[in-house]
Amino acid sequence: MVQIAARTEVGLDHILKEIDDLGLNSYIEDLDTNGYTVIPPEIANPNDLAQRVLDASLNVAERRNGERPDLKDGNSRNPNSPVGDAQKAILLENQVFEEALMNPVLLAVSTYLCGYDVVLSSMGSQMKGPSDTRFLLHTDTRLPSPLPRLPLLCKCIYALTDFDRERGCTAFVPGSHKWDRNPKGSETLMHEGGSVETVPAEGAAGSLIIFHGSTWHGAYNRVVPGLRASLHLLMMRSMLRMTEDFYDRIPEEVLARNSARFAILTQQAIIPAYLDKEDQHAKVMRSLKYTDAFEKESGIALPVKR
Ligand SMILES: [Fe+2]
Repeated sequence: MVQIAARTEVGLDHILKEIDDLGLNSYIEDLDTNGYTVIPPEIANPNDLAQRVLDASLNVAERRNGERPDLKDGNSRNPNSPVGDAQKAILLENQVFEEALMNPVLLAVSTYLCGYDVVLSSMGSQMKGPSDTRFLLHTDTRLPSPLPRLPLLCKCIYALTDFDRERGCTAFVPGSHKWDRNPKGSETLMHEGGSVETVPAEGAAGSLIIFHGSTWHGAYNRVVPGLRASLHLLMMRSMLRMTEDFYDRIPEEVLARNSARFAILTQQAIIPAYLDKEDQHAKVMRSLKYTDAFEKESGIALPVKR
């Protein structure tokens, strides 16, 4: 236990207790050993969250694309992409996406990996149909090797439809998060010509897959009709540059209906690059407003960067 998380992580005792309270110890052991875990619906899917996220994701795709995805018989709108049709930046499209971010199970595991100052970098849905486009194995930590052992980021994937090999689920190389490097050459190939073994992340709709940013992964091609639907959250330490920009862009009523932690997660406490001393002061004060509220709520003091 506690192999991945830094022993000096702020609030480590607090998060380990939360993991214990939520019954997540065996999933944390999976993460430590294999670099990924699949948390089943009975734990990860409170109040039919995945079904509601699926409905909202279909609505977003229909509104943006002009046609509703057909889960049963549909094809990818983007068959040349191994991830199918991706809808980016959907957090503010429906309140259920706030709920998906605030799921205590997702937050406990993300916090274990990336600390209490972890933020949402991006949230998007994917609808993936049959395709023979190869998805190369890679890590999500966009750095040259060697990679840091301490996770800088993690990916959380809600399976909104059943995930198994023939339905095109995520593929992992177990234990690769401990190799501290990116795959290269034939190591990037799945199936034919590949030199590493992959394992399918299988689980019923409502499962939550979470993996360390240095775990080698890709996805199997879907070989049966219809679409695989999923919601992807990239979570990262607040010192990194995020993919989607939520800073000062979340409406007040959305902040007000959520906990103080939601503001931290949606980047309100980060301190972006400043122009001068005055600008720096304003941005630090803004950050303190949100970190103070979080500290009051949780009893955990976040490190503030000045
Ligand atoms: Fe990836």
